[in-house]
Amino acid sequence: MTMLMTMERKEWQRRLGEIVHGRIAFDEPLAAYTTLRVGGPADAIVFPESIEEIRGVVRMTRAQSLPLLVLGGGSDVVVRDGGFRGVVLRMGRNFAGSRVIAGDRIEARAGESFPSLLRTARTGSLAGLEFLATVPGCVGGGVATNVGAYGQWFADVLVSYTLLDRDARETNVPRDQMEFGYRYARLPEGSVITGAVFQLTMKPRDEIEETVRNYAQSRRDSQPLRASSAGCIFKNPDNAKQAGYLIDKAGLKGMAVGGAAISEQHGNFLINRGGATANDVLTLLAEVRKIVKKRYDVELEPEVRILGEDE
Ligand code: EPU
Repeated sequence: MTMLMTMERKEWQRRLGEIVHGRIAFDEPLAAYTTLRVGGPADAIVFPESIEEIRGVVRMTRAQSLPLLVLGGGSDVVVRDGGFRGVVLRMGRNFAGSRVIAGDRIEARAGESFPSLLRTARTGSLAGLEFLATVPGCVGGGVATNVGAYGQWFADVLVSYTLLDRDARETNVPRDQMEFGYRYARLPEGSVITGAVFQLTMKPRDEIEETVRNYAQSRRDSQPLRASSAGCIFKNPDNAKQAGYLIDKAGLKGMAVGGAAISEQHGNFLINRGGATANDVLTLLAEVRKIVKKRYDVELEPEVRILGEDE
C-alpha cells in the first residue's frame, strides 16, 4: 500500500503530532472531505488551528520530502481511489473566521466557508460577494481558483491575500502582484494560502439580500445543488458553446458509469448517485470528453483538480 517505510512513517507521524495540537487522522478516506464523495485514504490529514501549526507542517513535509496537499472545502477536486501518499492540510472550520475592517473591507482566514464569509458581508451591509450564494467552498480555495459566478470573480474584490511559501515564509500579495484568469490564479509552487482581504461596497441590506436570493434561485433552478458533485466538471471552452450545452445536446444527460452519472438537470454536473468510485467518475469523464470531441471537435478540459493515486 503505502510506499513509505513503516519506521519512517511512524517517525513522521509522531512528529506531526508534536506540531499539530488539533485533530490528525491517519489513513482516513478523503471521500469524506470532498463534495463529490470519492477518493481513497491519505497517509495523514491534519486540521490546523494556527499559522504556527501550518508553518510547522510546511517545514516538516519539506524537510522529509513528503508530498503536501492543501485541501479547502474539497468542492473542486476528484481524489483518485488510491488516495494520497503524504500529508493533507485541511484548511477548514479550525482555521476560519472573517470580520469587517476599515468599514468596507472584510478580512478572512483561509478556512472560512463561503456561506460564512457571505454572512459577514450581509450583516455588514457590504456588497460584492453575493455571487457566492449557494456556492460550496472556502476562502483559500476561492483565491486559488478565482471562484466566479454570474460574471463576477474573487479577482474583482480581492485587495490582498497572504500565503506561506514553500520555505514557510509569510508573504502578503497585494493587488498589483496578483495574476488571475478564468478559474486560475498564479501562485508560487508549494504555497499555502492563509487569508485574504476583500474590498466591498456599502449598500442597503435589503438590496444585498435580494441579489443573494436571485442568484440562489437561479442556481437552484439550473444546477443539481442537492446532489454530491464537484460543481461544473469541465471548463467552458474558449471558442465554442458552454460545456453544459454541448454535453446536453450530445444527449449525454443521465449517462452513467457505476455510481457516477451526468446530471439530468445540468449537463456539466457529474454527480455521485451513491457508491461511486473515483474510477467511475474518471471513466465517465473520459467517455464524455471522447463523445464531445467526436461530435463537435471540442476538447473539454476538466475544471476540477484530479489528484492522488490510482488504486
Ligand atoms: N445549458 C444547456 N443544457 C444544460 C446546461 C446548460 O443547454 O444541461 C445551456 C444553458 O441554457 C446556457 C448555457 O448552456 O445557455 C450555460 O449554462 P449556465 O447558464 O448554466 O452556465 P454554465 O456556463 O454552465 C457557469 C459556471 C458555473 C456558474 C454558472 C453561473 C463554468 C464551467 N461554469 O456555468 O460555475 O455557477 O456559470 O454563473 O464556468 C463551477 O464552477 O463549478 C460552476 C458551477
